Amino acid sequence: MTRPIRIAPSILSADFAHLGEQVREADIAGADFIHVDVMDGHFVPNITVGPLVVRAVRGVTDLPISVHLMIEEPDRYLADFAKAGASVLTVHWETCPHLHRTIQCVKGMDVLAGVALNPATPAGLLVEVLSYLDLVLVMTVNPGFGGQEFIPGTLSKIRQARQMINDLQPACMLEVDGGINTQTAPRVVAAGADILVAGEAIFPCEEGVDAAMRRLRESTGGVHS
Ligand code: DX5
Ligand code: ZN
Repeated sequence: MTRPIRIAPSILSADFAHLGEQVREADIAGADFIHVDVMDGHFVPNITVGPLVVRAVRGVTDLPISVHLMIEEPDRYLADFAKAGASVLTVHWETCPHLHRTIQCVKGMDVLAGVALNPATPAGLLVEVLSYLDLVLVMTVNPGFGGQEFIPGTLSKIRQARQMINDLQPACMLEVDGGINTQTAPRVVAAGADILVAGEAIFPCEEGVDAAMRRLRESTGGVHS
């Protein structure tokens, strides 16, 4: 079985004074998603953006927008992000005591549903909800900041998540996020990832967004079995 590798540039590393141009550059360069990192200063130590920025991104691209909610009580904001134009809403397992309800709420808004796992959270905890999911996000750094170093111990979890997805919900996408670059991308793809989120490896690169994305894609070989 072959699966296409998709790239989701994270605007966390973009130049926010020129956000529209940066998103358009990523779009023209063949990005598959635009990844928006939402942080609340509680679940993670950093504060970033809200629905307003999702709406602004929606205005400059037709690409699907995947919104990564690193916030406590995400249920309070799901409708706002859906209305702003999110295509995928990914909540953290660690923030959702009623995860099944949260997933149903996302799906009820005609948005794809994802669940993210921190590095210390085992993949097996998804077994009861996997059949409802469109996306599993395995964090390959501790969430909160761009530009951190990839945690190699997450590779075995990616392999485990791939096995669970193949067995229980083959249509589900397997995304990885954090420290993805030309060195780590082939390793996560070999472990079973099919969406690569990347911030620092794409936006601040002197060579430009197009060349950076091409290099990242080439490092994976493009399509994998
Ligand atoms: C980290 C965010 C990531 C971040 C990745 O908490 O979820 O999406 O932007 O950045 P890099 O690719 O620089 O590690
Ligand atoms: Zn993210």
